[in-house]
Amino acid sequence: MTEPVAFPQDRTCPYHPPTAYAPLREARPLSRITLYDGRDVWVVTGHAAARDLLADPRLSSDRTLPAFPTPTERFAAQRDRRVALLGVDDPEHRTQRRMLVPSFTLKRTATLRPRIQETVDRLLDAMEEQGPPAELVNAFALPVPSMVICSLLGVPYADHDFFEEQSRRLLRGPAVADTEAARDELDAYFGALIDRKQKDPGDGLLDELIQEQLREGALDRDELLSLATILLVAGHETTANMISLGTFTLLRHPERLAELRADPALLPAAVEELLRFLSIADGLLRVATEDIEVAGETIRADEGVVFSTSVINRDGATFQEPDALDWHRSARHHVAFGFGIHQCLGQNLARAELEIALHSLFGRFPGLRLAAPADEIPFKPGDTIQGMLELPVTW
Ligand code: HEM
Repeated sequence: MTEPVAFPQDRTCPYHPPTAYAPLREARPLSRITLYDGRDVWVVTGHAAARDLLADPRLSSDRTLPAFPTPTERFAAQRDRRVALLGVDDPEHRTQRRMLVPSFTLKRTATLRPRIQETVDRLLDAMEEQGPPAELVNAFALPVPSMVICSLLGVPYADHDFFEEQSRRLLRGPAVADTEAARDELDAYFGALIDRKQKDPGDGLLDELIQEQLREGALDRDELLSLATILLVAGHETTANMISLGTFTLLRHPERLAELRADPALLPAAVEELLRFLSIADGLLRVATEDIEVAGETIRADEGVVFSTSVINRDGATFQEPDALDWHRSARHHVAFGFGIHQCLGQNLARAELEIALHSLFGRFPGLRLAAPADEIPFKPGDTIQGMLELPVTW
């Protein structure tokens, strides 16, 4: 077994796994990494092993367990807070997930497409009026999913400056205190919103949860606050990063982009391949509750396990020429949305948003190009969701 590699690390190129992860790729399907606090834990890097283990009930998502791996100091400081859905195991997880699934089915998501298209068109109109140039993260990539998730949840979009800033502090505030303060601010915000909605119900998902689950006692107030934060943060940060990094990646692969423009029917496959290729949520966390034999090794009870989606999704045993961006392969079984009981609840919504956003952006601006040298455009550090910090474009 190779020396443990430090994890997470910054990417060298925004769309490839960090070059420092090369030993992890060679040591597939399982090796060791060292976390920020000096603790060594397992890292899963092989595709088949990842799917087996992510579906294994002997791995827990309960971050309040003492041995749960913490990738950053910021994360460690949040350990004692119960996190709904993402941080609970079955049977509690199943009960919570069941309340939400009807709002995120393929059928339900399809009914949102006209509203997503309208939002996208309005933002592109504004960009066209005010530019060129434009800063794509703030003008487009962030507001698209932010507006969509607000309307789905019944959260006023007028508050977007507030919650986008709190999400940013939550996920990558410079100090631990920022993360804690952001969590408190979001709790207070949703607390007040729930109070208002109890008196004056609207027609969003939060209103449904208040009327059907909170009132009946199936959810308590803390669980609802935690769910509201997860849905809002997961619903806009991730997709925003996929839009910005996806655009950057397509602009850096002009031959692929030309192919996509010529044949828009390739779009769903292109979105799937971009999800695999970019693997923006890198480092899913679990802890073993029993000994598990895998690939000739034993993961012992109380050992931490991290899944590096960026390395798993470049497994050559599953994906031919894994480092090439190529939507003529089937990328559908990638683990960019995770796998098993916690597999992304919002994946249908994310796919719809990505298809509409990328198709409409490149359709509106056929001459879209970067407005700065590619290697000078800043991207996010390795300890958060991957994406562009800024994306200056012109047309
Ligand atoms: C392209 C964008 C997205 C990516 C790459 C992404 C990625 C992921 C991943 C990897 C997980 C699994 C985490 C784990 O197993 O520990 C997850 C879970 C989740 N995602 Fe997403 N996500 C995206 C968009 C969204 C959207 C739009 C929503 C909308 C609400 C959303 C809501 C959730 C929720 C609620 C969970 C927790 C599910 C559970 O624990 O049962 N995500 N996501």
